[in-house]
Amino acid sequence: MALTSVNISTNPFEGQKPGTSGLRKKVKVFMEKHYTENFIQCILNALGDKVKGSTLIVGGDGRYFSKQAINIIIRIASANGVAKLVIGQLGILSTPAVSSLIRNHKVLGGIVLTASHNPGGIRNDFGIKYNIENGGPAPDHVSDAIYDHTKKISEYKFTPKLETDRLIDILGTTTYNVDGHDFVVEVIDSTADYVALMKQIFDFHKLRTLIRGTDKRPPFNVLIDSMNGVTGVYVRRIFVDELGASPDNNVCRIVPLDNFGEIHPDPNLTYAKDLVDKVKANSTYDLGAAFDGDGDRNMIIGKNAFFVTPSDSLAVLANNLECIPYFKENGIHGFARSMPTAAAVDRVAAKLGKEMFEVPTGWKYFGNLMDAGRLSLCGEESFGTGSDHIREKDGIWAVLAWLSVIEHKNMSVEEILKEHWGIYGRNYFTRYDYEECESDAANQLMEHLEKLINSDTLVGKSYTAIGKTYKISKADNFSYVDPIDESVAKNQGIRILFEDGSRLIYRLSGTGSSGATIRLYIDSYEKDNVLSDAQVMLKPLVEVGLEISQLKKFTGRDAPTVIT
Ligand code: G1P
Ligand code: ZN
Repeated sequence: MALTSVNISTNPFEGQKPGTSGLRKKVKVFMEKHYTENFIQCILNALGDKVKGSTLIVGGDGRYFSKQAINIIIRIASANGVAKLVIGQLGILSTPAVSSLIRNHKVLGGIVLTASHNPGGIRNDFGIKYNIENGGPAPDHVSDAIYDHTKKISEYKFTPKLETDRLIDILGTTTYNVDGHDFVVEVIDSTADYVALMKQIFDFHKLRTLIRGTDKRPPFNVLIDSMNGVTGVYVRRIFVDELGASPDNNVCRIVPLDNFGEIHPDPNLTYAKDLVDKVKANSTYDLGAAFDGDGDRNMIIGKNAFFVTPSDSLAVLANNLECIPYFKENGIHGFARSMPTAAAVDRVAAKLGKEMFEVPTGWKYFGNLMDAGRLSLCGEESFGTGSDHIREKDGIWAVLAWLSVIEHKNMSVEEILKEHWGIYGRNYFTRYDYEECESDAANQLMEHLEKLINSDTLVGKSYTAIGKTYKISKADNFSYVDPIDESVAKNQGIRILFEDGSRLIYRLSGTGSSGATIRLYIDSYEKDNVLSDAQVMLKPLVEVGLEISQLKKFTGRDAPTVIT
């Protein structure tokens, strides 16, 4: 069918600045006339000449408004000369799956429709994120270019008569003729490519034996919770079909829902409490795992809900990577973590003689190092773990990696952690989140801290709380120079470092859709005292953190909304 595109006049919207991970707003904002259209056109504008004749991957976590957004993308992409869109069936593709598809198909990039761990549904959040040709989130200079376009856009291109109804429901390829050029929509199985990748990385035969058990070893009993997010379709294919887990007892909430069943699809002790309770209540479970809405985050707990902090998870994996076939083949290069992540992995890197990088918060900062072959494994304290198999963090990968380690060592999660702390000591870590604070109050708090770190009197000052004294050795606002392209990221969080190696970090979230979220990260290292309760151990330092920041005075908050 021959179709013709048109130019539609529009005006800029304020605030279309991509945050830590794309543009996130309430669904009703994306529903405003021209809002989504503008942003999609600005992504293409920022890509410039490369758009014509290109292929893009499109998909997301299936949250409310995804289908409408895909229809808009199809009509705008076709009008801008894109040659082909590869779309997950029903719009479903996890964030790691998009990254894998971009790399596998060697295409220009992908548009990921997700607000990650933020709640979904008509009253909640939607998000749009652009990933570049290495499969990773757009680096700052690309996001900045998109944002610049959003401030001056005056029209977008659109193919109004392109019929998109039910197009993404059925697998197959449809070719259109738009303005005299072929435009192809290929609807693909959401899981096939990703499952094939996981089978290349891990030894599925060994993992199946672990889960099913043998004459000598009882089945390793897992409970995998997709929290009604996108991983459900991958969990069914991988854990049930491939690894032989029981669909009734080993997996839960594996049907993706567009409102995530009204829960907050974020795998941590607060929002994944259901999983924690189930694993606590049933002592036959050896491991519990949960993922976020778009499948890039993971939480791991052992028997009786023994909690593995993401910082420890990263360190344990770093210490045991050789049991995974992918690393045997490709070698183990450096490790990296985001700045607020506890430094447990640094000790492993030092012992193994690997390069170690500390980058700002956000997965996009790992991409260059991976592309340069200097980084194999990295993670963030925010329940993100991943490797250079793709350029996003990867929840399912992390669980398969843990299962590989467990299979190899024939030890429980708790035993593995305790052995690790015995060798390396322990980084106690916690994060306090104060969600939806007044933006002005949050900004004032950060200004107060900025002033403090610039004053001459801070370094050398001591603070005492609950009988413990901490002396400040250094304070700054974290800046990062990318070792590969030398790009600079400034103002990445206020750091207060103490003489005993403890750290307090303050930053504002860049992923919220309303108000401001203040994050306070608390990290403290113990060589020998490794078996205490983290919240008890860190309490004095938390008090110091609250005193230094005057958090209560600025925000009126007595307590955080989430502790992880
Ligand atoms: C949060 C996490 C960060 C992660 C990002 C996307 O960003 O802190 O580590 O990369 O979500 O999952 P923030 O809201 O802190 O800007
Ligand atoms: Zn996510």
